[in-house]
Amino acid sequence: MVPPKRRKVSSGSSRPDKASKFPQVVSYLLERKMGSSRRTFLTQLGRKKGFRVDDTFSESVTHVVSEKNTGDDVRRWLTSQGHDRTPAHLVDVGWLTDSLGAGHPVDILERHKLREQPTSGGCEVATLSIPVYACQRRTALNNNNAILTDALSLLAENAELCDDDKRGLAFRRGAAVLRSLPEAVTNMRQLRGCPCLGEHSLKVIQDILETGASCEVESTKQSERYQAMKVLTGIFGVGVKTADQWFRDGIQNLHQLRQSGRTLNRAQRAGLAHYDDLGLPVTKSEADTIANIVEEAVLAELPGSRVTLVGGFRRGKLSGHDVDFLITHPQEGREEGVIPKVVSRLEVQDFLLYHKTSRNSYMESKDGPAPPASSMDHFERCFTIFGLATGDAEGRARRRAVRVDLVVSPFSQFAFALLGWTGSKLFERELRRWATREKNMTLSSHALYDNNQGRYLKAAREEEIFAHLSLDYIAPSDRNA
Ligand code: UTP
Ligand code: MN
Repeated sequence: MVPPKRRKVSSGSSRPDKASKFPQVVSYLLERKMGSSRRTFLTQLGRKKGFRVDDTFSESVTHVVSEKNTGDDVRRWLTSQGHDRTPAHLVDVGWLTDSLGAGHPVDILERHKLREQPTSGGCEVATLSIPVYACQRRTALNNNNAILTDALSLLAENAELCDDDKRGLAFRRGAAVLRSLPEAVTNMRQLRGCPCLGEHSLKVIQDILETGASCEVESTKQSERYQAMKVLTGIFGVGVKTADQWFRDGIQNLHQLRQSGRTLNRAQRAGLAHYDDLGLPVTKSEADTIANIVEEAVLAELPGSRVTLVGGFRRGKLSGHDVDFLITHPQEGREEGVIPKVVSRLEVQDFLLYHKTSRNSYMESKDGPAPPASSMDHFERCFTIFGLATGDAEGRARRRAVRVDLVVSPFSQFAFALLGWTGSKLFERELRRWATREKNMTLSSHALYDNNQGRYLKAAREEEIFAHLSLDYIAPSDRNA
């Protein structure tokens, strides 16, 4: 099942001993506060100079190198990773730079040792222990810092609308940290030592705490481009690239789009036709109504199937932008081809305003273990727009359009699909980032591949996936990062 080429890959990017001139010294660089680009830079520089620098922490590490952390910070981090008894030296980045300068590992001098006492302040000490990855934290639905997270999320959205996903992600990670705090931030001091908040995010927060608003956020909100892009990408079937082209052609709203005579594809035509409805939040009770309809149709077409409400509603959200369902059958293979049957049935029952099915294209031998090129996975899947019977303000019967995603997973991949489709999106991204960078594994909604062992790790339940990744289990309701 595993392509032979993959099997040969040794312990991933952790260099084997022979590449090192100093095999008795194994460094591990802590990303916390150092930042990922500096960490990558120092790692590569160290290796170039013949030092062994591992990407993941293990028992072979002799020197844990960190920057701007106290000894307590590092020990807390090690404890959170289950390595509280490591005999490794905890040293400041100065030890590494001195060693690189000397061309060999130098003795640990007094100035290389970490400060032991964190600076005082109750909340600060608390923020120091916040783990860096969102998948290491519990994030419930209630948000004590909504004003701040809304501001950072808007800047994230704007960055994404400018096709700057990296910047977008930085703001999203900042927002996620604030969202996980147990109390409202009222003073910048509370954020000292808090991970994932860069200079830019801190400036935005400071402006809001001091003046009640951030100029940058307010001017973004008012900007022509942001407003137009939000309207245009709000059309089902329209992505950033298309919207950007339209905007550059002078189209800023739906009226101008209609007037422009642009050729729209079928999804976009449906999106435009149902624009207002699809912009309304879907309530939990609408989701439950749709769940009954979908379950009835799936069970009629494939008895014994399991239909699970996933996405935001599984995390306990009371509203969402769509409703997501994951379908599987305990007898592997039985699930194949169920989507067209279910869709035909729903069509006959006149529930569908739009549907488009994509075929399952995932093959472990072909696609694994590398993550898919796009964030799109390869399940048999159907994007639909349901028309729910309802009444308008005057009590006239009408159909309310709601986006519904149906995804089918083979039973053996179900736990991975469930984890991948429960979200939140940031939680998923962080899980994958953690897997890759801290565990040298590749996680997708289909499978988990261990690059160290050169094999897939099976799981029948989400709990097992967290365990494979050495993470505490986080329940869906705490994945609202
Ligand atoms: P959604 O975009 O539906 O997000 O994706 P959500 O959390 O349910 O939010 P609302 O309430 O609808 O606004 C649900 C999950 O499915 C995954 C996403 O990563 C997210 O975790 N997903 C979505 C995929 O894995 N692939 C996709 O193509 C789309
Ligand atoms: Mn959803």
